[in-house]
Amino acid sequence: MRLSASILGALVLALSVAAPARAVPVVPLPATVVPGEGAVAIRNGAVVSSSDAAVGAYFRDLVRRLAKLKLRSGAHGGIDFRRDASVAGAEAYVLDATRKGVVVRAGTREGLFYGAVTLAQLLSAGGPLAAVHIEDAPRFAWRGLMLDSARHFQSVATVKKLIDAMALHKLNVLQWHLTDDQGWRIEIKKYPRLTQIGAWRLDADGRRTGGFYTQAQIRDVVAYAKARAITVVPEIEMPGHAMAAIVAYPKLGSAEGAPSRVTVDWGILPYLYNTDDSTFAFLEDVLSEVMALFPGPYIHVGGDEAVKDQWKANPAIQARMHALGLKDENALQSWFVSRIGAFLAAHGRRMIGWDEILDGGIPNDAAIMSWRGTAGAIAAAKSGHDTVLSPAPVLYFDNRQGTATSEPPGRGTVVTLKDVYAFDPAPAELSPDERRHVMGLQANIWTEHIPTDAQVSVMAFPRAAAVAELGWSGAQVWDGFARRMAVMLERYRALGIGYSPSAFAVNADARLDPARTTATVALASQAGIGEIHLTLDGTAPTANAPSYGGPFQVKLPAMLKAAAFLDGRALTAPTTRKLDAPSLLRRDSRELKLCGNAIPLSLAGYGTTFLVDIVNPCWIYEKAHLDGLAHLEAGVAHLPYNFSIGTDRDKIALHPPRTKDGELEVHLDDCAGAPIAVLPLSAAAKGVTTIAAALPPLSGQHDLCFVFTQRSIDPLWVLNWVQLAP
Ligand code: ACM
Repeated sequence: MRLSASILGALVLALSVAAPARAVPVVPLPATVVPGEGAVAIRNGAVVSSSDAAVGAYFRDLVRRLAKLKLRSGAHGGIDFRRDASVAGAEAYVLDATRKGVVVRAGTREGLFYGAVTLAQLLSAGGPLAAVHIEDAPRFAWRGLMLDSARHFQSVATVKKLIDAMALHKLNVLQWHLTDDQGWRIEIKKYPRLTQIGAWRLDADGRRTGGFYTQAQIRDVVAYAKARAITVVPEIEMPGHAMAAIVAYPKLGSAEGAPSRVTVDWGILPYLYNTDDSTFAFLEDVLSEVMALFPGPYIHVGGDEAVKDQWKANPAIQARMHALGLKDENALQSWFVSRIGAFLAAHGRRMIGWDEILDGGIPNDAAIMSWRGTAGAIAAAKSGHDTVLSPAPVLYFDNRQGTATSEPPGRGTVVTLKDVYAFDPAPAELSPDERRHVMGLQANIWTEHIPTDAQVSVMAFPRAAAVAELGWSGAQVWDGFARRMAVMLERYRALGIGYSPSAFAVNADARLDPARTTATVALASQAGIGEIHLTLDGTAPTANAPSYGGPFQVKLPAMLKAAAFLDGRALTAPTTRKLDAPSLLRRDSRELKLCGNAIPLSLAGYGTTFLVDIVNPCWIYEKAHLDGLAHLEAGVAHLPYNFSIGTDRDKIALHPPRTKDGELEVHLDDCAGAPIAVLPLSAAAKGVTTIAAALPPLSGQHDLCFVFTQRSIDPLWVLNWVQLAP
């Protein structure tokens, strides 16, 4: 039988359209993928030739780690990387895999590097490489992550590990947040006290913490990044977020009486650099050393959250403002930042700053990083400034990725992988012409609540992969991305990249039925891909275990284990839930609802984590079946209130205590009215203390509200868990 030409045409078309998502499990998705005929086997000992030795070496190392394949270097390889000026585009490459071998061509070193990353990903699954023609180039020039090394200091090894992981995603900008109120992290030879004094603080628990990067270490990191096609953009904050520098050199400050030590408070502090010429001389000296270390075109000068109280209160600064003919402190900040921008421009660099630097007007060659939503980016682009989209909360990777208690601490707002992937980096408010000012996007890893190096990677990944795909291809087809991410997670595991499983892990919502002999269980995952298989006898679920078809009732006790499977393979370790009445009557603070959502934080302390809104510490245990319950226990703790939240602190509603040490109050339904139980805090020691109370006879299904009574918000009383019992 002969197929008609049109049917044949339709088949070929269908194959080439269907191919990218399944057959090319590459993240970020390449721009053009055309499947070819046949396949080529790449075996141990295969030869790699490269016109750029470093790219060849990087590729062989990556393939060894990803695919356990040992490739050799040689002059004429079955895998050949070649510079080819006919491939246009600063980051573009062309990859041809045929039955005869693989050729990667690019006009630039960066393009060749990206071709190597794509090919390594293609080989990571093992088996023969299907013939394919890929033509690829990024949508945006700025595909960034920001690492805050000021709030918590990370080792050089950790910074390099992050750079390595970025390279796997073709992310190409690492903004390095090196100075802030809580620490100065970059050695400046002319001003040694910046790191002798400014790099160290006493943490809330009295421990001396900190550290800084020597100039030699920074050179090493910058070179390491460059080898991976990544530019490091240093951020030196001004005029605010300057406390550590002012502690080191009090003459830089704007207020009488310099602070005596670097703060451990998070939030917005009042310390601003003053506007003296000697302070500009200091900043220019600092920036001169910074420019010598960071060869990239951009220097980030911060500019965010500079509350002007100290400038308003300082007569000399007010006199200068008036002498300059400036109408207010915003205009003074604009003058300040413009003066620094002119200095950078005179040295061949461009200034970039957070969107506040737009507030008082700014020269057009300054670029704007929009963090207060995308409004700053829209204003910037409309007024002719280049801009990078970095809006909170969606691109703020200090937010947690899910509600699971396995998530590390962070901000309490949940920003999932899917939320990040749904972000639109082409704001509809901009015309096509204005859109050309959008250089790209960046996610920020702020580390106030990320105390350990290991947590940095877990907060970054897999969400950074969504940033990479939006920045590279903008495909934004969730199902295809999620399926390719299942393969990416295997790469993370092979390379030892820490990541959160929350997007793909099964969430088990298990509710105790009123009689307390059965529970109703609903299973889901954020990603919604694959099929959920489960067991109830404690054995590990396989792809042959019963599959989940909808909420079900289970007789207690049982041990639930569930995971999502794709193509027969589990996407994550199984979620495990002990199903018995006591377990189902217990809630971790992260399983309670917060009464408000002003500043929700998932705070680390005493070896555990507390979900709390720090301006309204109040929790709700939802929909408890109360018939027959007679006891309540709670794990409580107090934490230092080291949050600088300005006048919001005065708005915190304190519930008056009955006794010196205060109480935990339990209210029925809402948080008003007389409490149904009052648990004195006098027994609470340092750490998490269990306190208990009897419950009055209650019936029906109700919310329970938990609030502390206290005279002062410091210390902050927090709930760690609640246990109801018959
Ligand atoms: C910022 O989050 N203050 C840029």
